[in-house]
Amino acid sequence: MAEDAILGFLEKQEEISDSGKFAEEHGFDHNEIVNIIKSLNGFRLVDAQDIKRERWVLTDEGKLYADKGSPEVQLFLAIPPEGISREDLQKKVESSIFKIACSQAMKNKWIEMGKQVSRKVQNVDDRVKDLLIQVQSGELISQEDIEALKKRKLIAPQTWKGYSLRKGPNYAPKRKKAATDFTKENLQRGDWKDWELKEYNFEAKGQLAEGGHLHPLLKAHVRNRLQMIFLHMGFEEMPTNNFVESSFWNFDALFQPQQHPARDSHDTFFLKVPSTTKELPEDYVERVKLVHERGGYGSRGYVYEWKREEANKNLLRTHTTAVSSRMLYQLAQKPFAPKKYFSIDRVFRNEAVDRTHLAEFHQIEGLVCDRGLTLGDLIGVLYDFFSRLGMTKLKFKPAYNPYTEPSMEIFSYHEGLKKWVEIGNSGMFRPEMLLPMGLPEDVKVIAWGLSLERPTMILYGIDNIRDLFGHKVDLGLIKKNPICRIGI
Ligand code: PHE
Repeated sequence: MAEDAILGFLEKQEEISDSGKFAEEHGFDHNEIVNIIKSLNGFRLVDAQDIKRERWVLTDEGKLYADKGSPEVQLFLAIPPEGISREDLQKKVESSIFKIACSQAMKNKWIEMGKQVSRKVQNVDDRVKDLLIQVQSGELISQEDIEALKKRKLIAPQTWKGYSLRKGPNYAPKRKKAATDFTKENLQRGDWKDWELKEYNFEAKGQLAEGGHLHPLLKAHVRNRLQMIFLHMGFEEMPTNNFVESSFWNFDALFQPQQHPARDSHDTFFLKVPSTTKELPEDYVERVKLVHERGGYGSRGYVYEWKREEANKNLLRTHTTAVSSRMLYQLAQKPFAPKKYFSIDRVFRNEAVDRTHLAEFHQIEGLVCDRGLTLGDLIGVLYDFFSRLGMTKLKFKPAYNPYTEPSMEIFSYHEGLKKWVEIGNSGMFRPEMLLPMGLPEDVKVIAWGLSLERPTMILYGIDNIRDLFGHKVDLGLIKKNPICRIGI
């Protein structure tokens, strides 16, 4: 065995100066020796030093000529003393080498070429073949010859790596494998007496605990925590158990015109079956049609022909504001009482998927409906809500939504990223939305929405949404991340 040979050799000799020579002399494959040396060195049975040698090896073409002779000599030998026609010569020599053979033989002034090819000298030596054989057997040749062979791509440099070895601090003539398992039988038989036991590795990671794992989106820290925040603030949860919605509640009731780009199939998933909704509150539909076409309540409307067919189309809801519009309509059917509502659920958008966008995600939505609310109330509620999530530095930027006026994008300063990041959208629902529902004129609604994924990604330091949700979710991440997070 090669390992025993190495250790045995070092028992008598000071060192093995060259693993390559050692392998050759003892009839081992050098690659095998290298692997053993690496292992022995790792356990410090030997002390190995790298040695490197640049050497020349034959290319495939070089090997061919070392065997069959150089092309120019092959050509020369194919020419009879009396000469030969070019065509006949071409037939006698392999076509792949003909061109190079002619040019080398001409260069060497061995032949003369016209229509007829003839020898100019009696004999030739195959120096190229001789040199190649010398290189092959590791003999040294002159720099000039090396250059010439290299230029013809018959040889190429190769770095040879090997080792020189001496005894290491743990040297022994034979390696003992340290035992890692210890059974009752080993104890009874007394095997342990000549065993070397592997030391405990207290740094080793334990086995992964098997069992269920909560997805970060469901963990106390994000979803339940948001739910708790809303409940503590006196909000009621809205029923969001319908992914399928009609365009009417998703868009029309929200004063979103029918030619709005968001209503395009590029942005919205429409249903084929059932493609339309069964029923809508007819008198309210009529008021919505009027406000789109001609306005009212102080508005000029959008001035276009509103189509019932558009409103009837079923879709996968694109935002949870569709649920808010249903809830506010219901509220308007009873004597008015102020309300605070929230929801956390799934929405769908027909978007190009990338590291921050998925075709389905979760929205968090909050709204407050009361008499005489102002933008100041909205800003106050947003500070209250986000500071409970640990985001105390907020900034607001004017924005546009068809159903809110004014509208504000919400930014929070991210201490880790050291920059402002957009975290949500908000606004006051327009009178064109609220008044057709039948809410009293002085009733205002302040509302905001954000994705559940955004704060989760920030909290868990995930930078690709596909690791968090969808079919490419990283199960390793779910198993490994902490059961609960401490702090924000
Ligand atoms: N529906 C909006 C969105 O999808 C969010 C929003 C909710 C904006 C409520 C204003 C008021 O981005």
